[in-house]
Amino acid sequence: MSGVLLTDDIAVEGCSPSGGVVAVWTLNRPEKLNALNRDSHLAIKEQCVRVESDDAVRAVVIRGAAPPTPEEGKRPKPAAFAAGADISEFAGKNSDDVREFFANNAWEAVWGLSKPTIAMVDGFALGGGTELALACDLRVASTRAKFGQPEINLGLIPGGGGTQRLCRLLGYGKAMEMTLTGEMVGAEEALSIGLVNKVVEPEELEREALALAENIARKSPYTVRVAKRAVRAALDLPFTEGVLTERSEFVALFDTEDKEIGVSAFLRREDAEWVGR
Ligand code: COA
Repeated sequence: MSGVLLTDDIAVEGCSPSGGVVAVWTLNRPEKLNALNRDSHLAIKEQCVRVESDDAVRAVVIRGAAPPTPEEGKRPKPAAFAAGADISEFAGKNSDDVREFFANNAWEAVWGLSKPTIAMVDGFALGGGTELALACDLRVASTRAKFGQPEINLGLIPGGGGTQRLCRLLGYGKAMEMTLTGEMVGAEEALSIGLVNKVVEPEELEREALALAENIARKSPYTVRVAKRAVRAALDLPFTEGVLTERSEFVALFDTEDKEIGVSAFLRREDAEWVGR
C-alpha cells in the first residue's frame, strides 16, 4: 500500500496550543492521474484514524501528485487531483464483489473527520475525485481544474456520495445536470456555482491552500470542531431544529476556557493564546 498516499505534517507557526500541524496528504498515482484504487482507499482511511486521534493535527489538505516527467517522445500526462475511482478495478465485478468495499470507503472517512479538510485541486477531479473534493469542507482550485461526474458514461452513477453532496452544495438543477450529462465543469464555472471556494493560478495553489489551512489552524482547535459540527447540522436537521442545535452549541462554549481567553484577548487588544478546551 505504501506510496499511493504520501503524508507530510507541516508545522503551523503562531498557533496555540503550540505544536499544531497541517496534515498534507498527496494522492500519489500520477501515472494514472491519481485514480483512487483499493490501496488509496485503505491509506486514506488509515490516515483519517491517525489525524482524528492526533491533537497536533489542526487541519488536513488533500492534493494530487504532480504529473511525472514524460519519457522521451511521449505525451506528458495532465495535472490531476484524482481522475476518479480506478476504473480497471470495476471490470468483471458484480454487486456482491463491490458492496462491502463501497460500504466502508475513503469518501465517508474524510467526511466523518471532526477536523477541517481542504481539497487542493489542480487539473482533473473527476468521478471519485470530485467526490473526494466534495467530502472535504473547503475546495481551493487552480485555473486549470476540471470537475465532473462522468460515471454515466461507464453505465454507472456516482457512488461516493456525489449525488447527495452536489445537491446540497450546488442545488438540484446543477447536480442533476452534472450527474446526467457527465460534462466537465471548469474552474471559473466551479467558482460561480459554489463548487469551489477559491480559484488561483496553478503556481499559487499550494501557498493559497496552505494559507487557508493555517488560518483555520490558528483558531482554537476546540471551537473549530464545534463550528464544523454546527454548520454540518444544517445538512441533516430541519431548519428550526438546526437553529436550536446551533444555540445549544453556542451556549455550551461559554463554559470553555477558550471563550474566556478569546474574549479577554479581544478586550486587551492582544492575540489569543488558546488552550484548546
Ligand atoms: N481509472 C484508472 N485509470 C485512469 C483513470 C481512472 N479513473 N483515469 C485515467 N486513468 C489512466 C489512463 O488509463 C492512462 O493510463 P495509461 O497511460 O497507463 O494508459 C493514464 O491514466 C492517463 O490518462 P489518459 O486517458 O491517457 O489521459 P488524457 O489526458 O488523454 O485524458 C481524462 C484525461 C481525465 C479525460 C481521461 O483519463 C478520463 O476520462 N479518465 C477517466 C475519468 C472517469 O471516467 N472517471 C470516473 C471514474 S468512476
